[in-house]
Amino acid sequence: MPHVVFIAPRFLENTNRYLRAFAALDGVTLSVISADPESAIPAELRPRVAAHYAVADALDGAQITTAARAIAQHVGRIDRLTGALEQLQTPMAQCRDALGIEGISSAVARNFRDKDRMKDVLRAHGVPVARSALVRSVRELALFVGHVGYPVIVKPQAGLGSRATFRVESAADMAALSSKGAKPTAAQPLQVEEFVRAREHTCETVTVRGVPVWRSGTRYYPTPLEVLETPWVQYCVLLPRDADDEPWASFAPINAAALAALFGKDANTAAGTALTHMEWFLREDGTALVNEVGARPPGVQIMPLMSLAHETDLVADWAELIAFDRFAPKPRRWAAGAAFFRGHGRGARVVSVSGVDDAVAAAGDALVEMRTPKVGQERNEGYEGEGWATVKHATTEGAKRALKALIEHVQVRYG
Ligand SMILES: Nc1ncnc2c1ncn2[C@@H]1O[C@H](COP(=O)(O)OP(=O)(O)O)[C@@H](O)[C@H]1O
Ligand SMILES: [Mg+2]
Repeated sequence: MPHVVFIAPRFLENTNRYLRAFAALDGVTLSVISADPESAIPAELRPRVAAHYAVADALDGAQITTAARAIAQHVGRIDRLTGALEQLQTPMAQCRDALGIEGISSAVARNFRDKDRMKDVLRAHGVPVARSALVRSVRELALFVGHVGYPVIVKPQAGLGSRATFRVESAADMAALSSKGAKPTAAQPLQVEEFVRAREHTCETVTVRGVPVWRSGTRYYPTPLEVLETPWVQYCVLLPRDADDEPWASFAPINAAALAALFGKDANTAAGTALTHMEWFLREDGTALVNEVGARPPGVQIMPLMSLAHETDLVADWAELIAFDRFAPKPRRWAAGAAFFRGHGRGARVVSVSGVDDAVAAAGDALVEMRTPKVGQERNEGYEGEGWATVKHATTEGAKRALKALIEHVQVRYG
């Protein structure tokens, strides 16, 4: 019976969904590490937890290692150490290395977490990526711009959620970087890349011991960077009806090559059993470039969208994959999409929400679930806004129409 240790920094709604999925698996011994106390484990799950260990900081590799060691002594050898958050990838890998637990090691985790190394590894394996460099000074940044020209993009070496990511189009933009806290120094090296003008897509892949067994994909409308740059645009993610639709179908070989490169020699071990989330660019001329890859389930509602489109529970499927190296490929039955509601105006809080009834009526049967922003809610600085809705439809066009209706009708104002 595999012994799975799940890391839940806090027992929040989304994390509990993953915890519940592991708890629901027959034939798994489940232990939990968290920063929240044991009393915060959802009551119905407590009897399923063989051991719980609380740590001060669940994102700290050393603390996780201490906790996992104690759990192993108490319950027995750990077969899988897992967690759904991007920020857990490196600390979990440190713990696996220290305790000899199968799965993604620190070396492989770096391929996924360090944007500079990721691009170097991909390039070395002939996978198309944007020209990039890690720069440690304004001089190095200027040198890179000298090579590739404006515009470039500057971002953290291990970022997420498009935080601290800036488009630099001119010498003036370059000079303004330090006021945004984005000045490259030896202590804070920054990732700089040629700016790729393209549509942005994702490719979610299930690999079992390195072999891709299933793929799904989405498109972002517009790109996350454009969403953040443009306070008044709404954000949507669309999952098309047909699994073999273009441009996703043509991307599959690039996806396979990229994953093989990043998992490297560990591909055919437990490290290569994963659900990965790849973001990629499709340029005007039809060529594709890999942007980045997460060795974890995707965010921005893509898990629920995949579940809707394939009439499955992808969170449960992922838990089974991790615990047993097992995945039954799911046929696509629907198109699906998510709309994110973002407020307009100045101010730090939501002061009004209107058009919800019209939006619901216009979306019709396609609407699956809706979380409307609430008056008084704090402004969200990210691209996910203050609320969202998910849709599904028999056709891609139908799902698009429903998304359009939702974002046209729902009006959120800050004040
Ligand atoms: N080289 C690039 N060219 C154009 N846009 C980019 C480039 N790199 C990143 N972006 C934009 O910035 C967003 C965030 O960058 P990304 O590399 O995905 O980092 P993260 O999502 O980890 O913050 C992307 O979704 C994309 O919209
Ligand atoms: Mg990204």
